[in-house]
This record gives sequence, structure tokens and C-alpha cells, in this order.
Amino acid sequence: MRERLLSGIKPSGKLHLGNYLGAIQNFIDLQNKYESYFAIVDLHSLTEKFDPKQKTEETLDLAIDFLALGLDPAKCTIFVQSQVLEHAELSWIFSCLTPVGELERMTQYKDFVGRGHSANAGLLTYPILQAADILIYHAAVVPIGEDQLQHLELTNDIAKKFNSRFGETFTPVKPLLTKTPRVMSILEPSKKMSKSLGDRHVINLNDEPEVIEKKLARAVTDTGKTKTMSAGTKNLFALLEIFGEPEQYKFYLEQHKAGSIRYSDLKANLAKVIAHHFADYRRKRKELEKQPERIMEILASGKEKARAVASLTLAEVKQKMGLM
Ligand code: TRP
Repeated sequence: MRERLLSGIKPSGKLHLGNYLGAIQNFIDLQNKYESYFAIVDLHSLTEKFDPKQKTEETLDLAIDFLALGLDPAKCTIFVQSQVLEHAELSWIFSCLTPVGELERMTQYKDFVGRGHSANAGLLTYPILQAADILIYHAAVVPIGEDQLQHLELTNDIAKKFNSRFGETFTPVKPLLTKTPRVMSILEPSKKMSKSLGDRHVINLNDEPEVIEKKLARAVTDTGKTKTMSAGTKNLFALLEIFGEPEQYKFYLEQHKAGSIRYSDLKANLAKVIAHHFADYRRKRKELEKQPERIMEILASGKEKARAVASLTLAEVKQKMGLM
């Protein structure tokens, strides 16, 4: 039997290159190797500011993104987290096994609070719900970005704690990390590419070619003829290495070494290869946007498949804990 895989993405707006290279890009191959579950984690997205009028659309949009990028509902299960009620219930159970101190140690939470924001309780317990997402399917592997490693360790701690108190139930999960370096903002390359910085900092997967060109034209690079690479230039080269031809990458690298690089030229070419890479995706996306019933059907059948597994796990957990 194939090993199980689960990953989750928050529906909170358009996908950008950082999201894509961080995890989603890998999903396409992984669905062939594992029994895969891809969750649209709408409950997690509630920890952020959101507009209730947009939430349904954001959720459907992410489903469309999954499909347009090549996830195939015949090979994997795509579902909406809040429709599989068992996640939230298991999350409550796990929260009673998790010391608050461990949650307060989580970087994502600490950084948020450290920036002077006051956090809702959901942001603190966020990794517990994530542990429930993963363990309820007995997933063996979880493809994630590096920033999520800590949450996976917590997941394994919770699994161990449950097993030792209530009997062998969960097996440890392994992270599947991508080789891709972190994608940085094109305007502030010291920061990770994130939509919270603003739209001009990120390249969205469905940006039209002209938009990509305009955004990259403003990207921060080196000034003058330096031979060392600044973070901004490194970021563009990293993207060129991923999306461009090897010869193209070598060509610009040599020009950079020689101090004769023309950044406008590099940026224009990078815009071209990125736009080309997502041409098929943009086309499929437009097709799928016209078929909302089809998206709803896919999510309904994903929900059924997910619940079949999740309800068994939850029943076993409750029975082991003496819940009626
Ligand atoms: N916390 C993850 C992120 O921000 C999203 C997520 C929720 C997730 N549940 C998950 C990822 C389960 C992997 C597995 O990227």
C-alpha cells in the first residue's frame, strides 16, 4: 500500500511564487507517489484578518488553483478543512494534551506577538489544529516549507504523548522539504515574499505577462558594477535558475561576474520565462472559473473521501480516551 501524504494551504488570496515554490509545485509529482490528501485549511485562515464576503470565493479560488496547477481529483483527495468536522474535534482533544508553554515557543506565534500585535487564541492553538489535520489521516509524510518544521515537531510530540497515555495510535510523520531556496520580496529582498507586504512585492501565479514585467522592472538589484551579489540580485538569479534555461542562467551569471550585466535585460527575460511557465495554468484557470458546479462536485467528493478516514480515527481516539 502507498504511504499517506497530507498537506494544507490557507485560502487567503492569490497564490504567489513563494507559495508555489515552497510546497505546491511538489504536490503535482507527489500525488503519483502517495495516497495524497490536500486540504484547503479555511479554519486556519480564520486566525488572520478576513472578510466573510470573500472567504467562500477564496476557498473556491484555491480549489481552482489546485486543479489548474495539475492536481487530479482522480489521483488525490482535495477537500475543505471545515467540511470535515472531525479535524476541529480532534484539535480540541489534542489541545488538552499540549502545554501552553510549547505553543508560546512557536516562532510563528512569537514573531506575531513580538511585533506588538495582540494574538487571538486561535493563533496560539493553530499548530494543534495542524497536528489534527495531519494525524487524523495517519499521514506518513507532509510536504511543507521550512518555516513549518517546528509545527511538525509539535505534531510528533502530540502523537507521542497521545500514544503513551492512551495506547499506540499514531505513527511519527516526516517532513518533505523542497530544495528551493526561500523566495524573497522583489522590493525588499531581506524579507520573505509574502502578500502581507503588498502586491508589488510578490509575483502572483495568475499575474498577466505585462504585470510580471512591470513588477520585475521595479525589482531591487545592485547598483553600479559590484561583483558580490546583493540579496535582491541573488533572488532574481535564484528565480532564473528555476524558470529559465540553464544557458540563460549561465550567460547572466558570467555577465554579472564580468561586471557588465544589464539588469533591465535580465529582468525582462526573467519576466518572460515566468509568464511562460504559468501560461498553461492561466488558461486552465480561466476555463475552471466558468465551471463552478464542477468545483463544488470535486470538493463534495473530496469531503466524503476525507471524512471516511477521519471519522475512523476520531472514533478510535474517543474510544481509547473513554469518551462515550
Ligand atoms: N500551517 C501551514 C502553513 O501556514 C498550513 C497547514 C495547516 C498545513 N494544516 C496543515 C500544512 C497540515 C501541512 C499540513 O503553511
